[in-house]
Amino acid sequence: MRRRLIAGNWKMNGSRESLAELDGIAAAAAQAEGVDVAICPPFTLIERATARVPALPIGAQDCHAVDKGAHTGCVSAGMLVEAGAQIVIVGHSERRAAQHESDAAVKAKAEGAIAAGLTVIVCIGETEAQRDAGEAQIVVTGQMRGSLPVAGGDRLIVAYEPVWAIGTGLIPSLADVGAMHRVIRGVLIELLGAERAATVRILYGGSMTGDNAADLLAIPDVDGGLVGGASLKAATFVPIIAAAA
Ligand code: G3P
Repeated sequence: MRRRLIAGNWKMNGSRESLAELDGIAAAAAQAEGVDVAICPPFTLIERATARVPALPIGAQDCHAVDKGAHTGCVSAGMLVEAGAQIVIVGHSERRAAQHESDAAVKAKAEGAIAAGLTVIVCIGETEAQRDAGEAQIVVTGQMRGSLPVAGGDRLIVAYEPVWAIGTGLIPSLADVGAMHRVIRGVLIELLGAERAATVRILYGGSMTGDNAADLLAIPDVDGGLVGGASLKAATFVPIIAAAA
């Protein structure tokens, strides 16, 4: 049985002051039986976040593939572990687009993170043009084959985030979400074998809110959510946690 995970991705938002939001989030997480909750703030807040709410898993939004070296401006998975992170998001569509991250680069990061002991959320998802062209499933399965690490067991998590649903207030139909998550589970079985694939959680991400979370989480193979905007405040994130419980 896979435990649900509701993970918040703060992206490049938040300050020391915003860490006060974690108090309410951690309290709700402690109440939510059977649900894992995590927050991924910017790098600079990780250590303070772990100190403030030690029971709430804290993650990062990216890491380098190798553990050290001449990579100015980058942060390794080992450094994240040292800062107290337990999770890292890799291959978010914003990084695939703005930092031109390829599937191979995402896979290398995921492998480095798993080797360092982190849980890894690998993001995949089609653009609006790809969906309109009828290519959504081809794109997503291609990203899976290119970006997923072979190792990881239950420390591997997949997040399906249709790019056009991120920050737009739009979500796919529940039937389309269900169809895509079914396809993703099928590819996981093909890549990892049925036993291991059954342990991998598949999150939905893209305009998840307290209003739509219960419907999205009721879909088979939707094992949780990766939440952007609504994770920044306890007032908007706690209802999503409650919907998962
Ligand atoms: O990684 C989470 C994300 O991209 C979804 O963002 O703001 O649509 O919930 P948002």
